[in-house]
Amino acid sequence: MSLCSGLPGGARRPVPEGPGAAPDPVLRGPSIIAAARPLPGGPPPMPSLLERFRRLAPYFRTSRTGLAATILGATLMALTEPMLADLMKRLLDEGFTGQQIPLWMVPAAIVGLFTLRSAAGFLSQYGLAWAAQRAVLLLREAMFARLLRAQPALFAQQTASGLTNSLVFEVQAGVQILTNALLTLVRDSLTLVALLAYLLWLNWQLTLFVSVLFPAVAIVMRKLGSRLHRLTVESQRATDELAYVVEENVLAWRIVRLQGAEAPQARRFMQRADTLRRLMLKVVVAGATMTPVTQMLAAVALSAVIALALWQSGTGGATVGGFVAFISAMLMLVAPLKHLSDVMAPITRGLAAVERGMDLAEKTPAESTGGHRAGTDLRARGEIAFDSVTLRYNDEGAPALDAVTLHVRPGETVALVGPSGAGKTTLVNLLPRFLEPTAGGIRLDGVALHDWDIETLRRQFAFVSQDVVLFNDTIAANVSLGDEAGPDARERVREALAAAALLEFVDGLPQGLDTVIGHNGSELSGGQRQRLAIARAIYKDAPVLILDEATSALDSESERAVQAALERLMQGRTTLVIAHRLSTIEHADRVVALEAGRLVEQGTHAALLAAGGLYARLHAMQFRT
Ligand SMILES: Nc1ncnc2c1ncn2[C@@H]1O[C@H](COP(=O)(O)OP(=O)(O)OP(=O)(O)O)[C@@H](O)[C@H]1O
Ligand SMILES: [Mg+2]
Repeated sequence: MSLCSGLPGGARRPVPEGPGAAPDPVLRGPSIIAAARPLPGGPPPMPSLLERFRRLAPYFRTSRTGLAATILGATLMALTEPMLADLMKRLLDEGFTGQQIPLWMVPAAIVGLFTLRSAAGFLSQYGLAWAAQRAVLLLREAMFARLLRAQPALFAQQTASGLTNSLVFEVQAGVQILTNALLTLVRDSLTLVALLAYLLWLNWQLTLFVSVLFPAVAIVMRKLGSRLHRLTVESQRATDELAYVVEENVLAWRIVRLQGAEAPQARRFMQRADTLRRLMLKVVVAGATMTPVTQMLAAVALSAVIALALWQSGTGGATVGGFVAFISAMLMLVAPLKHLSDVMAPITRGLAAVERGMDLAEKTPAESTGGHRAGTDLRARGEIAFDSVTLRYNDEGAPALDAVTLHVRPGETVALVGPSGAGKTTLVNLLPRFLEPTAGGIRLDGVALHDWDIETLRRQFAFVSQDVVLFNDTIAANVSLGDEAGPDARERVREALAAAALLEFVDGLPQGLDTVIGHNGSELSGGQRQRLAIARAIYKDAPVLILDEATSALDSESERAVQAALERLMQGRTTLVIAHRLSTIEHADRVVALEAGRLVEQGTHAALLAAGGLYARLHAMQFRT
């Protein structure tokens, strides 16, 4: 497992003013995913519909059978339409006028035709659903895989609710809408073709006259389609923003109530809800103007045809049956035409939703990785070197780390001290590459971090971070994080819990190790959470140990117990300890003091006290009380 105990800095996602507005330490330039969406300055050139569909193709690679069934069903259905019109012709010309059809054949033909039609309809619908759900599965798989491997910058730019929305809801809804629209598109275009062929066969002059109107319909659809697309993308964003407000208020409900901040929060919510309402209305308007326009065109065609056909029959060309069949087929054309004119809206909406998911899966840069794997046992010696490392979270303002040079020998314990905001957490977050330095280099065992195989690299660090993040799973699973290699895994979990002074508590629970601890461990106290994180680090048994305020939430008694376990753990490992309580770091081999991103002094506890600098000041302040 590459997850360390807690995800340092993870809970400190900056609150963006709008999507993509978050500062971005790793990628400078346009934000990762938002880059694929239209920028506010003006829409980028839109790829053609065909290109956009082609992008979807890989996700349908396992769905070919379903698609073939759909097309077969749709074709059969389309063929039944002219058959119906032809049935009319025969009934009129041969049945009523000629009395040549045996009576039983009429119901047999009608029922037979409709049976075929229903079966074909079912086949196409089922085939499509089958294909679509497989595609959703593949897309979800790809998105989640990328989420697990994306550059950490993704989490600074995208909100949890936005990503959840994409992965969970939008793909499903998008593919659903899209495939339904596609079914309409396929079925109705085939129907259209079948009916047109029949019409041509019946009376080609009349048919040619009607077909002049098609380009007009196409133009209307194109024009309105691009506006719809833009509106749809905007409303997606607005939905995200709305979800974000809800997310924040769910997370921060205590502080909102305590501060009486309900009214401004409600205003914030309503503002976004109202933006969304306005956008949705615009979407409907854009979609709804298409229908009347195409219907008007159809009415014009129909009236002209009837007039022309009447004139033709006057000159003695057509039979009554032929005329009725023509009009029937013409009228049958209206339904697929209308469906086809309506189909642009859902296709645009569905495509936009699915494209967002595809952007996440395909355009989010994955973490880079090197090939270095640290010998056969995959364990580093634990020599760490920061060479004038500078890190800026954003372009303006002072850097969080300013040319920090620090070399740590294998097995050495280094304490990082300094006032809040000095850059201590930032410094250690660089090691597992949760952050990338803006300038300078970092090496582990003499190998630059980006030359390490990223999974191997992360295996070298056990982290107990400032914000402990726990999974809503059993205690055992939270300690081992799924890494249960070896038959003694459970025993090792117990040992780790014992060393973290938590085993007694766990054994007292009705389900023991298998107790589920609730959303982010909400059923545990702050100190218990921290000890669980420490157990996690002990269990991981990594060559480098990083303790960021690892015992800050403990009472002095359990701190003493845990401290002893941690000191045992530090034996033979490189350790970086961050602590505000300076008493816990007096035994470090070396103390390094940071201030405002700069390394200001380093040396042993005694030497720094004697030097009378920052460390001595911090120390004096703490022990005055
Ligand atoms: N994700 C972030 N985006 C932008 N700025 C950040 C981010 N994380 C930290 N900073 C800034 O970087 C500076 C160093 O932060 P850091 O968390 O490293 O401090 P620290 O020394 O660990 O402080 P503390 O003792 O309070 O934990 C701070 O000024 C902080 O505001
Ligand atoms: Mg910190």
